[in-house]
Amino acid sequence: MKTKLEELKTQALQEINNASDLNALQELKIKYLSRKGELNTIKRGLKDISPEERPVIGEIANKTAEEIEEILNQKYELLNKENISIKLEAEKIDITLPGDYIPYGKQHPLTSTINEIVFIFNKMGFTLVEESNSPEVETEYYNFDALNFPKDHPAKDMQDTFYTINASNLLLRSQTSNSQIREMEKKRPPLRVISPGRVYRSEAVSSRKNNLFHQVEGFLVDKEVTFGDLKGVLNEFTRHFFGQARPTRFRTSYFPFTEPSAEIDVQCIMCSGKGCRTCSGTGWLEILGAGMIDPNVLKGVNIDPEVYSGFAFGMGVERLTMLKFAINDIRLFFNNDVRFLEQF
Ligand code: PHE
Repeated sequence: MKTKLEELKTQALQEINNASDLNALQELKIKYLSRKGELNTIKRGLKDISPEERPVIGEIANKTAEEIEEILNQKYELLNKENISIKLEAEKIDITLPGDYIPYGKQHPLTSTINEIVFIFNKMGFTLVEESNSPEVETEYYNFDALNFPKDHPAKDMQDTFYTINASNLLLRSQTSNSQIREMEKKRPPLRVISPGRVYRSEAVSSRKNNLFHQVEGFLVDKEVTFGDLKGVLNEFTRHFFGQARPTRFRTSYFPFTEPSAEIDVQCIMCSGKGCRTCSGTGWLEILGAGMIDPNVLKGVNIDPEVYSGFAFGMGVERLTMLKFAINDIRLFFNNDVRFLEQF
């Protein structure tokens, strides 16, 4: 029996030594030390040996159990340590390495300009148009007719306006003024609305023209609104947008839906004098159209022009942005070249 125990110990130690992971170790513990394990199987033979030998062998058996357990524990510690260091090695991060460069997205300059314009007018009590009242796909009625355009106005021509193929009176809006009509149809004065968005015109693309561009429309309808109010609001706007030092001027103009009408020019910032390409040598650049809302337009939306009056304006976002940052080609806004965009 003694030999059996010794053999068992040798075998157990060898197997424990060879165990490569904690699971294998657990199995060996069951194999040798559990109630039905091999050591107990041998111990069951104690009853067959002489009473004198029994305590001696019994003691050897107990010692063997202790030794196997001790070795198991040592091996357990070892494997556990190994496990941890393998994990640590796998998760190691070298914090001294230089970081990866992640290019940041930035707000598009046209978006910042729109946000700035809306912010300035917000402060003067104008609120943002309801999106559903400012659609880009529009009917001829809202883009032209309700705005007092005569039936044969040249702007309605296919050469200026993109019509859809499906329905002849559906078009891509050529101006944000459609939102004036849609808002005024649904709401009653007093009204102060600011309405930014995309507009489309069928034009040859050049450094100054693109067939998609952005406008910000604004209008105010109330009792006793005068041209002086229009001037005051727009001067306040240009002062905030360009700063005090940039001169502006009002020029008379014509729009079917405003009377009287005006355009505002800002002094050219790229001006190199007589031959300046940006302003054709005039020294001034047009940034917006404006005027007092024509009584016909008010009548069309059931607002009594004897009681109410109002003004409207529409400004070109690309123009304003080009002037502010001295950008000389409108196409830069639409190429999405990061070398251009990351400067803002
Ligand atoms: N809608 C006009 C344009 O696109 C601008 C404008 C808006 C003029 C409002 C007067 C009043 O040219």
